[in-house]
Amino acid sequence: MWKYIKPYLPFAILAALFMIAEVSMDLLQPSIMQRIVDDGVLGANNNGVGDINLILRLGIIMICLVLFGGLCGSLNNVFVHKSGQNIGNLIRKDCFGKIMTFSFPQVDKFGTGSLVTRVTNDITQVQNFVATFVRGFIRTFLLTFGSIFFMFRLNTQFGIIVLCAFPIIVGVLALCLWKANPRFSKLQAHLDKINAVMQEDISGIRMIKACVREVYEKLRFNKANDDLIKTQLEVLVIFAFMNPIMNILMNAVVVLILLSGSYQINSGSGATPGNIMAGITYTTQLLNGILMLVMLFQNISRGYASWKRVREILHSQAQLTDGEFDGNTEIKGQIEFKDVSFSYPNSSVKILSNINLSIKQGETVAIMGATGCGKTSLVNLIARFYDVSEGSVLVDGVDVREYKQTALRDKIAVALQKSELFRGSIADNIAWGVTADIEQVKTASQIAQADDFISRMKDGYDTLVAERGMSLSGGQKQRIAIARAVLKNSEILIFDDSTSALDLTTEARLYEALRQSRSNSTKILIAQRIASVRSADRIVILENGTIGACGTHEDLLKSCKTYRDIYDSQMSEEAEKNG
Ligand SMILES: Nc1ncnc2c1ncn2[C@@H]1O[C@H](COP(=O)(O)OP(=O)(O)OP(=O)(O)O)[C@@H](O)[C@H]1O
Ligand SMILES: [Mg+2]
Repeated sequence: MWKYIKPYLPFAILAALFMIAEVSMDLLQPSIMQRIVDDGVLGANNNGVGDINLILRLGIIMICLVLFGGLCGSLNNVFVHKSGQNIGNLIRKDCFGKIMTFSFPQVDKFGTGSLVTRVTNDITQVQNFVATFVRGFIRTFLLTFGSIFFMFRLNTQFGIIVLCAFPIIVGVLALCLWKANPRFSKLQAHLDKINAVMQEDISGIRMIKACVREVYEKLRFNKANDDLIKTQLEVLVIFAFMNPIMNILMNAVVVLILLSGSYQINSGSGATPGNIMAGITYTTQLLNGILMLVMLFQNISRGYASWKRVREILHSQAQLTDGEFDGNTEIKGQIEFKDVSFSYPNSSVKILSNINLSIKQGETVAIMGATGCGKTSLVNLIARFYDVSEGSVLVDGVDVREYKQTALRDKIAVALQKSELFRGSIADNIAWGVTADIEQVKTASQIAQADDFISRMKDGYDTLVAERGMSLSGGQKQRIAIARAVLKNSEILIFDDSTSALDLTTEARLYEALRQSRSNSTKILIAQRIASVRSADRIVILENGTIGACGTHEDLLKSCKTYRDIYDSQMSEEAEKNG
């Protein structure tokens, strides 16, 4: 935390100084009030003759003190927020940067909902915590102990009364916080759940409507919401009972001061009416201080619970440690799987076992296999989205674990199975973060067979894409994702089932364009249709996590029963379609 506070420490110190000035003004007022009553009104030191000039003089001083105190309070607020907001901003940027370094399993472990809550709500709680700490802690501390000190100076008996009540008040406060504290962590966990449900439901709203699951999802959301409200109410109830208890205690103190004061006046042993008035004002200030202490501890407890959650992100160690190698190799576009076995982290199921496969530069290798057999898992190892469990994956002759991850991924362009588009123009989505002129974007789109449909749109390449590409068809999204991968012009191109929504003619044109324009790039295509893979240099058949067969279309038709079965079934489907 210190790392984030340090740059803004001057603001925090200035805030503290202004706060000290503000509280000092508050603490001076009851003493002046006492003199106004005793000397100005009652003339206690002048045989009962009041002094109107003194009242005016002290009144003006009091107003000036209030004005000065108010000014200091405002300046304190300005500097409190300058430090709180800036610290929050710094933490938020660091958290986001850290999340960007997370490996896939780390993102899965936290969950998207929880990550969003942590970067938004939790950091806001931390921000409040810093602000309350700087503003509230100093104010409360000074107001509480200042009031007790001035009370003693005013009248020893009053001081003793307040001092006796103090441990009881602090005890009640501690009890409430002890009860409320565990609930703050629970509150944030419930917020995580709400965010997770919200995220799933809003992004999947089309599916919910198509399957008429609105009521089901509403119930799921209501359950998450009810859990949050239940915990929130528990906290509020605890503090709702605490405030009246505090009030009762403080009023009891006021009554005791009145009793003691009147006893002292009657017995002529010190106290004056002004004394009693000032005593009551100090008690009120003390009450304010203590009530603020309650709020303060609430914010501190909640802020601390949130800070622990934010810290989990900040302290997460990158699971995939970067290697040293900067990716400068003689060979380009060569891939080798050496005895590779793979299980997902925290799972004992072996997805891939003993994979041996060597792919040369410029080769086109297609991967086929039943759904869930591990095709995506296999290609994910090339870009090191996951680490192998056994064996090694080499790119251009170097183990992927030895590369700097950015250097490795610079060599590879991937069009994922589920294309991700972002809000922005089509051109921005294709270029996406790299500087490319419109001609380059157009060329990539032409290869991806996307230029036709984009040019036919009213705004062409400037057409805005809705969130997650919702305004485009499945095949259009796929082609934009392919154009993005093609534009990168890297040594290795991986298409994970990314032409599944294209008709066979468009798909064939795409592969032909790729062959011509990216002849030097190594291409790995995952596909389900024979038509998509038949022209590949080699076709790999994945079966039960191992390579069942490998060869050209003709080889496999002769030697691989699985391939022949797929071929026969797809051919008969085609024949049926063609009548
Ligand atoms: N993140 C993950 N954590 C744990 N298991 C996973 C994860 N992703 C996939 N799996 C499991 O690994 C197996 C292989 O998944 P993979 O996505 O590689 O299959 P696939 O061959 O690409 O299938 P498809 O053709 O449907 O895309 C599946 O049984 C799946 O349940
Ligand atoms: Mg897949």
